Amino acid sequence: MAFILAVTGSAVGLGNIWKFPYLAGVNGGGAFVLVYLLCVFAIGMPVMMSEILIGRRGRRNPVATMALLGEEEGSTRHWRLVGGMGVLAGILILSYYSVIAGWTLAYTLKSASGAFSGASADQVGAAFAAFTGDWRLVALSHTGFMAITIFIVARGVERGLEQAVRFLVPALLVLLLALLGYAITSGHFVSGVAFLFTPDFDALTWDSGLAAMGQAFFTLSIGMGAVMAYGAYLPAETSITGTSAAVVLADTGIALLAGLVIFPLVFANALNPGEGPGLVFFTLPLAFGQMPGGDFFGTIFFVLLVFAAWTSAIGLMEPAVAWLVESFNRSRAQAAVMVGGLIWAVGFGTVLSFNLLDDLRFYKGTIFDNVDHLTSNVMLPLGGVFITVFAAWVMCRNSTAEELHGAGTMYRIWRFTARYVAPVAILFVFLKAVGLLPDLTAGG
Ligand code: TRP
Repeated sequence: MAFILAVTGSAVGLGNIWKFPYLAGVNGGGAFVLVYLLCVFAIGMPVMMSEILIGRRGRRNPVATMALLGEEEGSTRHWRLVGGMGVLAGILILSYYSVIAGWTLAYTLKSASGAFSGASADQVGAAFAAFTGDWRLVALSHTGFMAITIFIVARGVERGLEQAVRFLVPALLVLLLALLGYAITSGHFVSGVAFLFTPDFDALTWDSGLAAMGQAFFTLSIGMGAVMAYGAYLPAETSITGTSAAVVLADTGIALLAGLVIFPLVFANALNPGEGPGLVFFTLPLAFGQMPGGDFFGTIFFVLLVFAAWTSAIGLMEPAVAWLVESFNRSRAQAAVMVGGLIWAVGFGTVLSFNLLDDLRFYKGTIFDNVDHLTSNVMLPLGGVFITVFAAWVMCRNSTAEELHGAGTMYRIWRFTARYVAPVAILFVFLKAVGLLPDLTAGG
């Protein structure tokens, strides 16, 4: 149970409430959501199971685990590079995650001060632009979020984390359901549902397919060794299949629920679904500003979101911190300050992406867009390829069957999806999106 809570805590976060709705909006809705769901179940499930089983077998930080198992399974210690890429991915993801979590922190205070009460769509939009446009405010809230994260990680958190998640996820669920009620009664619920669940395949490009796959990795916290690091603490008798299924279902449910809340509000207020990273910061304050008791519920909601971001931030730092502690003999506090300090500094690339440097655009857009693309759409899926190939091709059948308890149907499904489906599908979408595979059907 403690393990399920920890992994759920890492999975449920800004990815569900902030990133999923904004990506679904930017990528045109239904078709994106469908590809996302397909990726979650056909790729996410086998990757998560592979990651947990590797973690439990190695019982070390991801770098050391991959090196040890690589050797033990008769391959090479170079597999540690996969762990190393995960450490790097965690650092890069948290560098921008913390900035968005900082926005959430600031919005908690704004809600509490009644700033949104009765506000119009224009006012809420202007408030967002004014806040993110001031780099000092964004830097301050990013610094605040990182400072507390470093403090929690330095102190070692297992107990507190469990307690927090046990309360947090149900509370978030209750509030989302209340918001769903509001979204249903405030009109435009049908347009929201239609947008999310009517696939328009003409609008689907390989780029948005890759974004959907990247989001599946991001939201499930897989592909970077975080779940592997947690797996190191999993008791031998716990079912990896059951645990993964529980986490995947909970995480997906919360993301869909967030979408069902956000899009009816978007259409009811004539906002733009393709707004981008600001989407929830436009819609939710607007809704809270109109409903009775909105200041109170808005504050609670943003507080819960900040806590959900913390339980994820801890997981994002874990591979790097565990590596420094185990392989370089650092104390947990030293490791937390070193890793956290680095992440804080790198985060300024994202802090400035919304103000001073918002004109600095290259490749995928701002610095933030590029860090996000590199991590979610490249590093995590690539990590997923290596993790499934390692678990299902390099590790011998006996090792994996022992971890997954036997050779029944579930085991065969895992092995088939991890051997063939996941790595092939990931590489295919990836190569298609970067244009390295020719388009055979259209003759171009
Ligand atoms: N899953 C988290 C979210 O949806 C973000 C995340 C990605 C993460 N990778 C992670 C969290 C690794 C913890 C560990 O918000």
